[in-house]
Amino acid sequence: MKYIAVFIFSLFLIACGGETEGWATDDMLVQPSEFASGEKVYMSTCVACHQKDGVGLEGAFPPLANSDYLLADKNRAIEIAANGMEGEIIVNGDVYNTVMAPQGLTNKEVLDVVNYVLNSWGNDGGKVTLADVEAIMN
Ligand code: HEC
Repeated sequence: MKYIAVFIFSLFLIACGGETEGWATDDMLVQPSEFASGEKVYMSTCVACHQKDGVGLEGAFPPLANSDYLLADKNRAIEIAANGMEGEIIVNGDVYNTVMAPQGLTNKEVLDVVNYVLNSWGNDGGKVTLADVEAIMN
């Protein structure tokens, strides 16, 4: 029994070591585990409208993939993911004027999903931190 516990603990150490290697050195990169959490939130909350590959639906749901609107302002992206939005916007030259309801996410879910959309489908949108989310939510 003791040996099994030691073995499992060793696996745990190996797993953690593998994950931090190459990532911990760069604070600006989204960690694989954060990215996976963000993908989970996206696939359960956002995908119905913005679609699996982030292309949206012309005239109804704006794209997130390669969206000039999304990539122009990270704080605004946090605010939309948390509180939804309404009113006229122009995304990649197309006008949208509908409503996105608040999605009822926790701060951590907002954090992960924003980092997910900023870094998916070819987006190179950088990273937001929990402090950024809290500054907007509180
Ligand atoms: C019920 C459909 C729906 C869901 C679910 C939804 N959105 Fe939206 N989203 C919209 C609509 C509609 C707009 C445009 C609103 C307007 O015209 O003002 C929008 C706009 C946006 C925008 C700004 C425009 C752009 O394309 O860059 C972002 C960013 C965004 N949504 C992110 C998200 C994220 C992240 C989630 C999941 C947490 C999500 N949305 C869930 C419908 C939805």
